[in-house]
Amino acid sequence: MQKQIWPITSAIHNGHLHIGGCDTVALAAAHGTPLYVLDEATLRGAMRTYRAAFDATGLAVGIHYASKALLNLALAKIVAQEDLGLDVVSGTELLVAQRAGMPMDRVHMHGNAKSQAELQRALDWGVGAVVVDNLDELAHLAALSAGRPQPQGILLRLAPSIDADTHAHIATGGSGSKFGLSLTALDAAAKHILATPSLRLDGLHAHIGSQIFALEPLRTTLKVLVAAAAYLHTNYQITVRELSPGGGLGVPYTSDQPQPDLGEYATALAQTLRTGCAAHNLPVPRLTIEPGRSIVARAGVALYRVMGRKMHGEGEAVQYLHVDGGMADNLRPALYGARYSAMLANNAAAPAGPPVDVAGRYCEAGDVLLRGASLPPATPGDLLAVATSGAYTLSMASNYNLTPRPALLLVADGQAQVIQRRENETDLLARDA
Ligand SMILES: Cc1ncc(COP(=O)(O)O)c(C=O)c1O
Repeated sequence: MQKQIWPITSAIHNGHLHIGGCDTVALAAAHGTPLYVLDEATLRGAMRTYRAAFDATGLAVGIHYASKALLNLALAKIVAQEDLGLDVVSGTELLVAQRAGMPMDRVHMHGNAKSQAELQRALDWGVGAVVVDNLDELAHLAALSAGRPQPQGILLRLAPSIDADTHAHIATGGSGSKFGLSLTALDAAAKHILATPSLRLDGLHAHIGSQIFALEPLRTTLKVLVAAAAYLHTNYQITVRELSPGGGLGVPYTSDQPQPDLGEYATALAQTLRTGCAAHNLPVPRLTIEPGRSIVARAGVALYRVMGRKMHGEGEAVQYLHVDGGMADNLRPALYGARYSAMLANNAAAPAGPPVDVAGRYCEAGDVLLRGASLPPATPGDLLAVATSGAYTLSMASNYNLTPRPALLLVADGQAQVIQRRENETDLLARDA
């Protein structure tokens, strides 16, 4: 078992994969498949490692979990308990944060096309900051907030024109990105905010993409933010209180991918901020980071039942294992060729056979969860566990082919708790008139 890829509590007993002290074979029998399992120790451990690494820099640092990676009530409560903040991108994510008791001043409202109702909710509930994406949104927010007694804090999301070495679909900081204000719009934004007493410019934000392993583009992003803060200071006498270079740190999904060091990441950002502020003669603002994947990915394991097999390819040399889930619960392989590691959860200690491809059950030829997976020979009824499945899986899940979305369990100390029940046919038909 690749230790850095599976949850920290993973163990093999009698050939069965155990997570959080629970036998995954028993979990699948009791709750059905596909099934997602979230290991509480790995989840909380990742949050605490982040906190410790950034506390060690001596800076004031806000760690905001990016809820787009995965969100539900139980998870939001854990985020609140662990003293993290939360980034939300929709009115409903904001509702989950509120229901979970997350202090609203620790919530940032993101999004490049927020609706009027979402902005109104963010204002009414007093979120810590609305992260304004473009000049039109600034105008909407200015109109909606007019006359309010307390100014609403905002961050301006900038498009720093930095290309991250990641898949184009998850690169968000390049010059062609749909996200953020171009630097040339900074003057217009600053003038508008200064003329709007109901808004207060608290800071600047950028996020260049996800699954990034090199620290240099993340440092460069922060340098761009510091330079923009200096520009605002010189030209508009605005002193920003917060700079956020976003999230994006990568995680290993396969044995050939590295495990980034959080201490190095924290030190690199802290040094960049201190040096940049000193060079521009600025007070050092609060640093905010927004990790999603690197908090939740490793804690999650997906369990699928093997339904059938087929030989394919040249000379029919490669086997497809058909499983009972796929692109509706995990779109990442079909969307951007994401790679995963897997094991047979009910026969985890057996030696591997020839590499196999794992096909999802959905009606797209591209619904293949894994290519060339190293597994023991499998037969129908076996249980496949896919590692590192906590991030951008269930949060992007659909009901394609009218299938119910899987249940999500939280496991710890031998106990499993359903934190999101499986959908059923009544749920699926509830909207049909
Ligand atoms: C604005 C913003 N912040 C944070 C994140 C979280 O990124 P990651 O999950 O890679 O840490 C994202 C995701 O793409 C994002 O768009």
